[in-house]
Amino acid sequence: MPAKTQLLKRRHALIPGAAHTYSKGDDQFPAVAPKAIVKGKGCFVWGDDGKKYLDWCMGLRSVSLGHAYEPVNRAVKKQMDLGTNFGRPALIEFEVADMLVNLLPNVEMVKFAKNGSTVTTAATKLARAYTGRKYIAVCKSHPFFSYDDWFIGTTPCDAGIPEEIKKLTVTFNYNDIASVEKLFADYKDQIACVIMEVVTTEEPRDNFLQNVQALCKTSGTVFILDEMITGFRFHLKGATYLHKLKPDLVTYGKGIANGYSLAVLGGRKDIMELGGLEHKGERVFLISTTHGAETTALAAALATIKEMQHKKVQDHLWKIGRMIERGTKALIKKYGLEASIELIGFPPNLLVSYKDKDGKPSMLLRTIFHQEMIRRGILFQGAFPVSYSHKVADVKKTLAVFVQALQAYKIAFNAKDTAKYLIGEPIKPVFRKYN
Ligand SMILES: Cc1ncc(COP(=O)(O)O)c(C=O)c1O
Repeated sequence: MPAKTQLLKRRHALIPGAAHTYSKGDDQFPAVAPKAIVKGKGCFVWGDDGKKYLDWCMGLRSVSLGHAYEPVNRAVKKQMDLGTNFGRPALIEFEVADMLVNLLPNVEMVKFAKNGSTVTTAATKLARAYTGRKYIAVCKSHPFFSYDDWFIGTTPCDAGIPEEIKKLTVTFNYNDIASVEKLFADYKDQIACVIMEVVTTEEPRDNFLQNVQALCKTSGTVFILDEMITGFRFHLKGATYLHKLKPDLVTYGKGIANGYSLAVLGGRKDIMELGGLEHKGERVFLISTTHGAETTALAAALATIKEMQHKKVQDHLWKIGRMIERGTKALIKKYGLEASIELIGFPPNLLVSYKDKDGKPSMLLRTIFHQEMIRRGILFQGAFPVSYSHKVADVKKTLAVFVQALQAYKIAFNAKDTAKYLIGEPIKPVFRKYN
């Protein structure tokens, strides 16, 4: 057995799935991808295969400024010397809370955590406590909200979740107001909250978002918008601001601290305060974690947001994203592959979808395209999560490689036996029942 395989086996023996996010797993990348990352700088990473890659993964979109970004790391190092965790709140908790409450519309109070799942789950718990209702309505068109039971129970990967719990989450579709109205009719006065992203791949149509918001208001349902991806990427004040929405609760994470671990639950004071000490009602044990407000991530968030304000980072993300969108679309057209490869989403968060000759989504073709990008030095997972470190020269390099990958893809696409162009196994869906 080759040494590499032994090494991989060892890694899988150490950690279930050999990663701490399923989307970083070996089943999510072609065989030619580096199996682990040694370090990163700006928009580049160095793999354990000894190669340097232009990075289009950016820590699952969390690294919004760039890897090992100097001003953020400086702030973190300074904070490290002041201590990371104490028996009473650190002063910096109030500084960051103040900054966020002033910056973000619809955010009157905040709670910090380390991961997005913690804050989306906390939002649903708070909504249940506030309304005294048990059902959670989730937008099924959106890929992921939490690894906790209330969400994972809606996917095929629902092992370990009792039926009783699964029944408490009901689903609707984006841009399909009838599917939301049906839920509100079927579960009249029983839906604690609606949770969805503002946008993922499609524009809202026919006032969909405003209509969902209005339905929530009329029926006393808590309206939760998850800005994990869109917040601090689409606009400093989030996509809720761009779409003039007034959610009751809102969740942030990912890009807020340039990859340092911080997630935020924010929202209306009267709801958030249920988790506080200033009311006489029943207490809600909202988020209470040892590491939730650990100081280095908060220092990173302060430095990241200041940098975003001074450098107009979101304008840069849109500009670079538009260049990628225009460039890749033109190349796809030039090679006559429009029916097979499609750019979807919005410039700060573009995604690529792959279809076979019958117009069906194809994991085989997806893997082949990613393989052709990666073997030419671009770490690619079917998305372009732009960071502030991606500059025009990186777009040019990306497009130069994109052409070559398209040429290789086209040969494989037109071949009788497409699979023979793949090295290793095709990527598999993250949410699947069996390995
Ligand atoms: C929209 C959305 N919500 C929540 C989460 C969960 O965040 P985390 O991985 O930090 O727990 C994710 C993660 O991908 C996400 O994309």
